[in-house]
Amino acid sequence: MSGLSDHSIKNLPQHLAIIMDGNGRWAKKKGFLRSIGHKNGVDALRNIATASAELGIKYLTVYAFSTENWSRPQSEVKALMTLLVSSLKKELKTLMKNNIRLSAIGDISLLPTKCRRELLEVMETTKRNQRMTLSLALSYSSRVEMVQCMKKIGQKLIEGEIKISDIDEAHIENNLFTFGMPDPDLLIRTGGEQRVSNYLLWQIAYCELYFSDKLWPEFDKEDLIHALQDYNNRERRFGKTSEQLHEEETNG
Ligand code: IPE
Ligand code: IPE
Ligand code: MG
Repeated sequence: MSGLSDHSIKNLPQHLAIIMDGNGRWAKKKGFLRSIGHKNGVDALRNIATASAELGIKYLTVYAFSTENWSRPQSEVKALMTLLVSSLKKELKTLMKNNIRLSAIGDISLLPTKCRRELLEVMETTKRNQRMTLSLALSYSSRVEMVQCMKKIGQKLIEGEIKISDIDEAHIENNLFTFGMPDPDLLIRTGGEQRVSNYLLWQIAYCELYFSDKLWPEFDKEDLIHALQDYNNRERRFGKTSEQLHEEETNG
């Protein structure tokens, strides 16, 4: 693999988030229908999820369908939902073999019944898998997530279950779709765009960002390792100075 050794990555992100963008442009470039781009996008996801688990990443959260994506042409939405059902059926074996737990974030009540049922079934079957949690962001919008969080907290206040002074960052985190997960350490977006498109806005407060020009269906393990090596060379200061971090390192 062109001299890229997995072992050269000392600091792996515990949680990797990906915006899998560029399926449509990949298909167009090849003269295929957009739906073929999405199909090849599933192949890329299988490879990246397997590689991530093998490398030791504990959480992988991928943007598969945004709330805004519901406004795409109905034919594309339908093709994506059909692909979701068939992929869930097909990938269960790979998930079990690789000891990967499947989870979902987003308003899955909006998914067609068949998709939701299949999704819940795969989540149930894989719930004891421990190597990595793969979360699919489906019908996901970070702003909707925050609105839902505020409503839940408001309800608890009205019912007297909590006081205003109980509301802190941890309390908010516990009412987001991502409760129980650490924040993403690295966010990769493929497809050349440099924006976050309503993805995990609260959770990426201190996340490292990495943009790749590769279109998602052509993003492979080698590209993933490049991104991880880049992350490995970053200094995450969390507001402190570089000197403070070095001091902390020498003092253990
Ligand atoms: C990302 O690829 C997948 C989804 C949004 C479902 P796109 O479909 O956005 O591909 P481009 O950006 O049009 O190339
Ligand atoms: C973001 O991609 C959502 C997914 C990858 C599922 P989009 O292609 O929908 O993003 P925008 O609209 O170009 O920002
Ligand atoms: Mg796109």
